[in-house]
Amino acid sequence: MELSWHGVYVKPKHKNESGNIFSRIKNFAHQKIGEKKSEIHREHILQNAYGVAQPGEILALMGASGAGKTTLLNYLTQRNIHDVEASGTIRINGEVVKKQLLRKVSAYVQQEDLFIGSMTVLEHLRFMAVLRMGRTHKKNERERRVRMVMADLGLTGAANTVIGVFGKRGLSGGERKRLAFASEIMTSPPLLFCDEPTSGLDSFLAKQVVQVLKTLARRKGMTIVFTIHQPSSQVFEMFDKVLFMAEGRVAFLGDISQATEMWNKWGEPVPEQFNPADHFISSLAMQIGKEKKSLVRINKYCDEFAQSELGKSYMNEAGNGFRRGSFSSSLSSGSEEMLAKAKNSQRYKATWFQQYTALTKRSLISILREPMLLKVRIFQTF
Ligand SMILES: Nc1ncnc2c1ncn2[C@@H]1O[C@H](COP(=O)(O)OP(=O)(O)OP(=O)(O)O)[C@@H](O)[C@H]1O
Ligand SMILES: [Mg+2]
Repeated sequence: MELSWHGVYVKPKHKNESGNIFSRIKNFAHQKIGEKKSEIHREHILQNAYGVAQPGEILALMGASGAGKTTLLNYLTQRNIHDVEASGTIRINGEVVKKQLLRKVSAYVQQEDLFIGSMTVLEHLRFMAVLRMGRTHKKNERERRVRMVMADLGLTGAANTVIGVFGKRGLSGGERKRLAFASEIMTSPPLLFCDEPTSGLDSFLAKQVVQVLKTLARRKGMTIVFTIHQPSSQVFEMFDKVLFMAEGRVAFLGDISQATEMWNKWGEPVPEQFNPADHFISSLAMQIGKEKKSLVRINKYCDEFAQSELGKSYMNEAGNGFRRGSFSSSLSSGSEEMLAKAKNSQRYKATWFQQYTALTKRSLISILREPMLLKVRIFQTF
């Protein structure tokens, strides 16, 4: 599926206007202790963000800390946006889509993965399979999917390994990340979003995770969008497209050779022996002590990119739903079919009874394997 977004503005909610009694008291307290509104309030987190992500490709969202990468991902997945005012248009295959449909066709792997540490990989995936496909897939079909994602993500060898909790042996960092993907891709979502899939991993494991994403995109025609911090040169070269954000605006979208060209045009070529990703990010970052100057430079680059041929073509594509036909017709017809199917699918993927039994089984496993937890629970009930 081709995903595009256009005219995306996100700003914090005005607490005075819409906040409850507690936030009003908090704001009043801020004013009393002399904190000015401008100091606690940033106007726009995202300002006219636009972009296009294509099937079979991985798109990396990059930029300095605070540039707005996670906010954009949240907007695109329509999750975690209750405390902001957001507007803009999201299209799939050129068609404007709403939250419900977007949720049906996408999966979001967030930065903090939540697992029950006492379960094994296989138990966790079986549990997720019931919740995600209980209504639509029979038990043997679910089991087939579980085995397939484990094979796809190189987790078969770790099937019976306990996930583990902090301080206890369990999966490695890379395996944990791959398990988070496994749960999400089990239903083969056409769109996959990941926030910092490589954070906390060394460069070898980071490369492995990005390779997994790339293989998924290529083999299954998925459209994958993720944020990433300081990728190594080797990992950076693996990205099909990169989108650089700066202070909530789009500074660049394109492939790596186009990025190199753009930075040359801006008179900031990548110095020899330098990691290009580091160079691109630092040239779009706010420099401490030189904030005003940095902002002028950032805005200049964002404006210049928006007015360049490349920028205009992406903006056009995102704004009009115009497709450049850069992905094959088989991918395009497949994604039309998926979209039509998603429109008719049910919201809850498991029956009430399936949800109840899966959750009870999971609780029993965690209580029996972690006697300490049982003691705490008994203690809490008295
Ligand atoms: N709900 C919110 N209310 C107010 N400000 C917010 C809110 N969410 C994010 N921000 C601010 O918007 C800016 C962008 O945040 P975001 O989390 O998108 O950055 P990021 O690019 O993902 O950064 P990092 O690389 O550190 O994860 C930050 O300055 C952040 O403090
Ligand atoms: Mg972030």
